[in-house]
Amino acid sequence: MKKYVLIASLAVLMGACGEKAEQAAPASEAPKAAEQAQTPATPPAPAPDKAALTEQAKAAVQALGSTLKGELEAAMTAGGPVEAMGICNTKAPEIAKAVSAEKGMEVSRVSLKSRNAKTGVANDWQTKVLNDFETRKTAGEDPATLVYSEVVGNEFRFMKAIPTGAVCLKCHGTDISPAVTAKLTELYPQDKATGYKEGDLRGAFVAVKHF
Ligand code: HEC
Repeated sequence: MKKYVLIASLAVLMGACGEKAEQAAPASEAPKAAEQAQTPATPPAPAPDKAALTEQAKAAVQALGSTLKGELEAAMTAGGPVEAMGICNTKAPEIAKAVSAEKGMEVSRVSLKSRNAKTGVANDWQTKVLNDFETRKTAGEDPATLVYSEVVGNEFRFMKAIPTGAVCLKCHGTDISPAVTAKLTELYPQDKATGYKEGDLRGAFVAVKHF
């Protein structure tokens, strides 16, 4: 008896969706229809391929990193750190936007001690990952290989640590020239991104994708 109620309601349901209603009605189709009733009408979305997304994210942050590095080196050679600071200030956000559009993932850079108070501040989960990177580095992992990748709800999250190199110290180190300091104060009154030593974790690249 229960079975027929089920089939009848299935027919109604299918009727609501259109064409398939007639197929569900005949008695001969009943076992099949009952069977179908156990599977959800809309199959769940396929699980995201984390490995493939991780590869995509690695390529995206690699593109962001190498573009930024190229711009930085060119600007440092052409005009020194003060000039390069202005380039970083205007170009870094543009580059992140362009790479995000090209790679189909939202890429950025964050830090526990950020320079750009709008784009560089780590949110809650990013802060956890950055702290975890610090722990892993202290435990002996090579900072250049620290990576995190996870799917949380409908969000894919990727981070890759950014170690501080010698070239970074002119603008992020402990001994910053007065001219650079003046420019920093002008552009980033809330700057926290100084006092780093070579090998410290300066922050991380982030790639995020929603589905
Ligand atoms: C010429 C000065 C200069 C040099 C050299 C420099 N940076 Fe920066 N850095 C900046 C500026 C300016 C910003 C803020 C850019 C913005 O407004 O988006 C910044 C931002 C960042 C951020 C984004 C997070 C935040 O704090 O806002 C990271 C990460 C970063 N730098 C890492 C590095 C690393 C690693 C190096 C060395 C390879 C380096 N920087 C060299 C000036 C510099």
